[in-house]
Amino acid sequence: MTCKTLIIGAGAAGMMCAAHAGPGVWVVDHAKAPGEKIRISGGGRCNFTNLYTDADAFLSDNPHFAKSALARYTQWDFIDLVDRHQIKWHEKTLGQLFCDDTAKQIIAMLQNLMTKAGARLLLNTSVTGIRQTDAGFTVQLSNGQTLQPRNVVVATGGKSIPKMGATGFAYDIAAQFGLRVTDTRPGLVPYTFADKRFAAISGVSTPVRMTAGAGRFTEALLFTHRGLSGPAALQTSSYWSEGQSVAVNLSPDLDIGQWLKTQRQKHGKKQITTLLAGLLPARLIDHLAAEIDLTGRAGDLPDSRIDTLADALTNWHLTPQGTEGYRTAEVTLGGISTAELSAQTMMTKSTPGLYFIGECVDVTGWLGGYNFQWAWASAMAAAKALVSTP
Ligand code: FDA
Repeated sequence: MTCKTLIIGAGAAGMMCAAHAGPGVWVVDHAKAPGEKIRISGGGRCNFTNLYTDADAFLSDNPHFAKSALARYTQWDFIDLVDRHQIKWHEKTLGQLFCDDTAKQIIAMLQNLMTKAGARLLLNTSVTGIRQTDAGFTVQLSNGQTLQPRNVVVATGGKSIPKMGATGFAYDIAAQFGLRVTDTRPGLVPYTFADKRFAAISGVSTPVRMTAGAGRFTEALLFTHRGLSGPAALQTSSYWSEGQSVAVNLSPDLDIGQWLKTQRQKHGKKQITTLLAGLLPARLIDHLAAEIDLTGRAGDLPDSRIDTLADALTNWHLTPQGTEGYRTAEVTLGGISTAELSAQTMMTKSTPGLYFIGECVDVTGWLGGYNFQWAWASAMAAAKALVSTP
C-alpha cells in the first residue's frame, strides 16, 4: 500500500487522525503498543472528555487558536463515538467523563477504526530522517524503509513522562523546518518544597480555592511527602512560574470570619481548634497550629484576632521550591507556535503537507478530560483536511 500520509505517533491524536484521514495512511510509533498514555490515563479509566469543554479551559500564547477545532469536533461528537462503540461511561465530577470499565476500550475503539479505515500501524519504529521534496516528503524509518508521503502529521505529544516514551521529537522537526516553538515546561504537576514541610500531614486532603498567577481553582488539595498535589495543585501549576508564591484559601465556600464570630456567641467555651475541627481535617489543624496562633477559647477572641485568623486561613501563602517536573507532569505546556499553523487544518503555513496535532502544539488544557478533547479535535481538523487532499 502506498503511503499518502505518514502520521508519526500512535497516541490519542495520531490514532484519531489515522482513523479519519482517508486511504493511504501509515502510522509509526517507537513504542511497542499504541496509546500508552490513554491506557494509564484517569487512573486506568481514561477521562476522555469534559462536558464543559470550551476554549477558556486551554492555555496558549493565542487563546483563540483552539476555538475553531474545538467547535468543529466537540465533546458531544466524541461522546457519540464512544456511545456507538458501546463503551459505558459516567461523569465523575465537574463534567469529567470516564469509562466505567477500562481505558483500554478507548484504545481498542481507535484501533478498530484505524483498521476499518485501512491505516497501517508500524510499532517499534521511529523516524530517522525527513526531507521535503517537490511531491511531498522523503522519510527514512528505523526499519530501513524509505517512504515518500505527500503529507506528514507529527503527533508525538510532549515531553511529559519520558519513561513512557515521550520525546521532544516534534520540537526537533519544528526546528528543522524553521518553525517557532514557544517555551515548554511541565504542566498539571505536583509542587515540591525544599523542607518537606508537609511530610507529617502526607495523605491529608481538603477542598480549597488555590491561586497561582492567573489560575484560580476550587478543588481538592492533597498534602504529600514532597509537597502539594491533588487537582487544585495540578491545575494551578500550569499557571505558576518559578519563585512565585501560591495562595490557598482553606475555606472556599464559607466566610470563615463571619462564621467564627457566630461560633464565638454560640460556643464561647469551645477551644478554637475544636471549632475548626468542624471545617478542616484534624491533622491539618495540628500543622497550622505550629504556624498560626490557634490557642484559646472562641469566647475570648476579639474581632481583631478573628480577622487575623480568617486572613491566615483564607490567604495562606506558600512558595514552592519547584515541581516534580516532566517525570510526573500530565502535560507539556507550550510547544509548536500556533502562529505557524492553520487553525482550520493544523497544517503549517510555511511547509505544505506538514501538520502538527495534539499535545505538541502550544495548546494545553486544564485537568479533567480537556487534553484528550484537544487531541481528538485537532486530529479531526487535520483528518478532514487530509481526506480532501488528492
Ligand atoms: P501522546 O503522548 O498520547 O502520544 C504520542 C505518541 O508518540 C506516543 O505513542 C509515543 O510513543 C509516540 N512518540 C513520541 N516520540 C516519538 C518518536 N520520536 N518517534 C516515534 N513515536 C514517538 N488527559 C485527559 O484529557 N484526561 C486524562 O484522564 C488524562 N490523564 C493523564 C494521565 C497521565 C499519567 C498523563 C501523563 C497524561 C494524562 N492526560 C490526560 C494527558 C493526555 O494523556 C495527553 O494530553 C494526550 O495523550 C496527548 O495526546 P497526543 O496524541 O498528542 O500525545
